[in-house]
Order: sequence, then C-alpha cells, then structure tokens
Amino acid sequence: MKLFKCALLGGAMLLPSAAFADELNLICSADVVICEKLVSEFEASHSDIDVNMVRLSSGEAFAKVRAEARNPQTDLWWGGTGDPHLQAGQDGLSAEYKSPMLDELQDWAKGQAEVSNYHTVGVYSGALGWGYNIDLFKEKGIEAPKCWADLLDPALKGEIQIADPNSSGTAYTTLATLVQLMGEDEAFDFLKKMHANVSQYTKSGSAPVKAAARGETGLGIVFQHDAVAQAVAGFPVGVVAPCEGTGYEIGSMSLIEGAQNPEAAKTFYDWVLTAEVQNMMPDAGSFQIPSNASATPPKEAPDLSTIKLIDYDFAEYGSAERRKALLSRWDDEVGSMPLQ
Ligand code: G6P
Repeated sequence: MKLFKCALLGGAMLLPSAAFADELNLICSADVVICEKLVSEFEASHSDIDVNMVRLSSGEAFAKVRAEARNPQTDLWWGGTGDPHLQAGQDGLSAEYKSPMLDELQDWAKGQAEVSNYHTVGVYSGALGWGYNIDLFKEKGIEAPKCWADLLDPALKGEIQIADPNSSGTAYTTLATLVQLMGEDEAFDFLKKMHANVSQYTKSGSAPVKAAARGETGLGIVFQHDAVAQAVAGFPVGVVAPCEGTGYEIGSMSLIEGAQNPEAAKTFYDWVLTAEVQNMMPDAGSFQIPSNASATPPKEAPDLSTIKLIDYDFAEYGSAERRKALLSRWDDEVGSMPLQ
C-alpha cells in the first residue's frame, strides 16, 4: 500500500496497487484476538505485504480450502487443530514446505511435519478439558465434574455446551479423544447420554467457555487454555483436566497448494515459527504451549506434564477416512437428536 502511494507522488506510471504490494490471504483458525495481533505485528515488520485475514473454525477452514481447490483464494492457513490440516495434506490441498525454522521446533511440532510429509507443521499445543462457572455451580449447589463420567450427571441438565465437530476442531478432538479412551461404540453411547445435558452445539470451539464465563451456561468443553484465558480475564472460571485422561491438540499451519502468493506465505510461515513471535501470544490472551523450543511457555498455561494425557494417535484421527466416518456417525447419532 505504502509503495503504491510513493509511486503516485513520484509521478511514476499508474499501476494497480497489487503490482507494488504483495498480498497474503490468510485463514486464521485460533481465537480472533491472537489472529488480529499476528496480522498487525506482521504488517508492522513487513510493510511490503498486505494481509487479508479471515477467522474460521478448523472444520470450516478445511471446507473453504477444499471448495477452492481448483482456484485457491487462500495462501496460508495458520492455527486450528491439526486433524483437518492433516486431512488437507492427504487430499493434496496443501503444499510441501520444509521451513528453515524446523530445527528450532519441539519434537511434537516436527513430528506433525514428518507424519504429513511436510504438508503441515505444529505451531502450538494444548490439552482438552473444560471450564465451569464457579459462582453458578455454587448458587445451584451442583458439584463440579472432575471426570468425563461426571458429565452424565442429571444435575447438569442444560448446563453443558460443546461445539459441533463438523465446524470445530476442539469438538472433533473431543470426539476422537473419547473414542480413544472408551472405544468407538462406548464413546457414541456416552455422547448420546451427554446430549441430555447439552443446551447448544456451537460453531466455534472456544464459544462454550466464553458463555460459561458470562453465566449463560454452566460449563464448556474446550481446550484448557481457553478456560484459563477466561479466568485470566477475571471471570469466575474453574479449569478441569478430566480424571480418566484427556486428548490434546497440535495446532498446525499449512501452505496452500497452488497459492497465488507463495513467497509472502513462506515469509509469514517462517516468521510465525520464531520464538520472538510465539512469545507474544499471551499478550493476546492465548495460553497454548508454543512450538518453538526456545519460546517461553506462558506461566498461566496448563502444565502438560501434570495432566494425564492419552497417547493421541494424530495420524489415525487426522486421516481423511477416519475423520469423515466419525463425523458422519456423529451427524447420524448425535447431531440429529433434538435438543431438550
Ligand atoms: C481455540 C483454541 C485453539 C484451537 C482453536 C480451534 O481458538 O485457543 O488452541 O486450535 O480453538 O478452534 P475451533 O473453533 O476449530 O474448535
């Protein structure tokens, strides 16, 4: 943009601004506050690149990238859970890229790159759980659930919100976690029973705990760092790591196959993997574990080493076939049930 104005003032040829400024069309699938912070910091340090950013939940982002396959309008997809990024890699929707930053990353972030043949990479991680409104539970005299099994307590009728796994990577991670913890049939049985306590399936993964923070619902099943963000913002939110064990995400990033601005996309890709940039995330209320090994995990971030984590099979649950089958079974058996 700035280059365009200079050219006009200097009396140079009148050319469309695109001829001067590089563009970057970015999908951001984490919280909108961190998305906006990354864009403004990037534009401040790269004045020759204009970023057009759209915030979409993980599943929605995957659907957009797939719909644009013949004529990609997106260059880079940052954030959101790893499963749809892995599926995009398998479906040929993302491009192979070995960033020079790879060596600086944690093993789990490099592992995500290796398992996808370098079609995606880990940018952050965080464990699943829930956040509940401490005041509301006290007022209603309800015991705070500590385990997945406690979520079936009839006292929680109408108190639970969780996202729809078709749009939300958080909710898909929940579905895949329960399948890995219990077995598939048992997990669907659990979800059908829990449905009696669910008031709403939201589009975005973190919306349920934002609603719980404001007392609109009792509890939201979310990544624990999203519950921490509400507590840090001053809301009466308790954070729970389920007693039976829980899954976690490897938030990921993918360069889109056939991107119109691959160089600008690679510039952002390498920049956002630096420790310096990842250290800015808590300033935007994002408390995930950063993927750069030299970045400092936020002091508020749930300590993964104290949480009972399952051995989450990212390759299996990010595979196109498994993801499609689980989502279609969820639609048939859970999503189709009327809300009480
Ligand atoms: C929140 C979390 C991220 C996560 C994302 C997934 O923004 O902070 O860590 O990757 O949700 O969003 P989704 O809407 O797809 O569940």
